[in-house]
Amino acid sequence: MEGNILVIGSSGQIGSELVMELRKSYGNNKVIASDITNSSYEIMNSGPFVILDVLNKKDLYTIVKNYQVSEIYLLAAILSANAEKNIKYGWELNMNSYFNILELAKERIIKKVFWPSSIAVFGPNSPKKNTGQYAIMNPTTVYGISKLAGENWNEYYYRKFKVDIRSIRYPGLIGWKSKAGGGTTDYAVDIFHQAFTSEKFNCFLSHNTEIPMMYMKDAIRATLELMSANYNDINIRSSYNISGFSFCPNDIYSEIKKYFPKFEICYAPDFRDDIAKTWPDTIDDSEAKLDWKWKTEYGLKETVKEIICNLKPIYKTIDNEK
Ligand code: NAD
Ligand code: SER
Repeated sequence: MEGNILVIGSSGQIGSELVMELRKSYGNNKVIASDITNSSYEIMNSGPFVILDVLNKKDLYTIVKNYQVSEIYLLAAILSANAEKNIKYGWELNMNSYFNILELAKERIIKKVFWPSSIAVFGPNSPKKNTGQYAIMNPTTVYGISKLAGENWNEYYYRKFKVDIRSIRYPGLIGWKSKAGGGTTDYAVDIFHQAFTSEKFNCFLSHNTEIPMMYMKDAIRATLELMSANYNDINIRSSYNISGFSFCPNDIYSEIKKYFPKFEICYAPDFRDDIAKTWPDTIDDSEAKLDWKWKTEYGLKETVKEIICNLKPIYKTIDNEK
């Protein structure tokens, strides 16, 4: 690769894992991590890190120039639940940040862009089961509206300016390296930490609200595979459906309970349950399979096992330090 990679939003759930994988693939100094807050020790000590507010166009251009950036992964955003609490800022951050990047690509200052979309582009009129790539999309959240608009801009900049944009409609992602914040699918991340620290979990979704989800490792691999696929194999520039596995809170609770027999759950559904109920239950990802040979590896059982294995030593150290 000629230039360097800039990841914006490196302190978040995806960023904290993606930066390290990109550094493994391309070399530590080729991947510049950035965020408005400090990233993990691992990220800040293994390669370049800069504080950047993506809404500050001048700073963004300076960093791109100084670090000879040719590829950007834009991960900064407000997730679904938090965006409902701050509509205007949700739209401003999720959209204006993207225009700053799209303009850089249009001016050929950068050559390639990754921008994540979400299953939140779907809405109450979309089919619930096996929701297809081109199903009706009528999102009812600020977040979903911003993601659908972003997908349309992807198509526009690709068609009109030949910008090499690649995008994935991530399902709800479950990782263990960082805690979740502000999303509707966050419960499936929090539940693991509660299993280690408390005997009870209060779930903000109903016991039977099913959502498409994916283990973070699969999501990161999908991102790297899509970004390194041949230009001519990418037939969808809006954003690709990808599918991991679907479950409702009761399913993941039952799986975790096998490791923590005393663990209890109680349900107090709030506005996030209403959001989740507008999203699909399951996703059809035939196009991703066909175009860039996407294949998920983790199911619910494997995900739960791996997350618990990874968190165990961390919580043991915390306990020992008390
Ligand atoms: P996150 O909230 O964990 O991380 C977002 C990061 O962006 C945070 O570290 C935050 O500090 C940073 N940020 C916020 N404002 C910023 C600004 N002005 N300038 C620079 N950085 C800023 O989110 P995530 O879960 O890592 O998601 C990353 C992207 O993937 C988002 O676009 C999100 O919509 C999308 N996505 C995530 C999921 C999921 O389940 N996590 C699912 C679908 C799509
Ligand atoms: N997982 C995200 C959220 O819940 C959806 O993209 O907001």
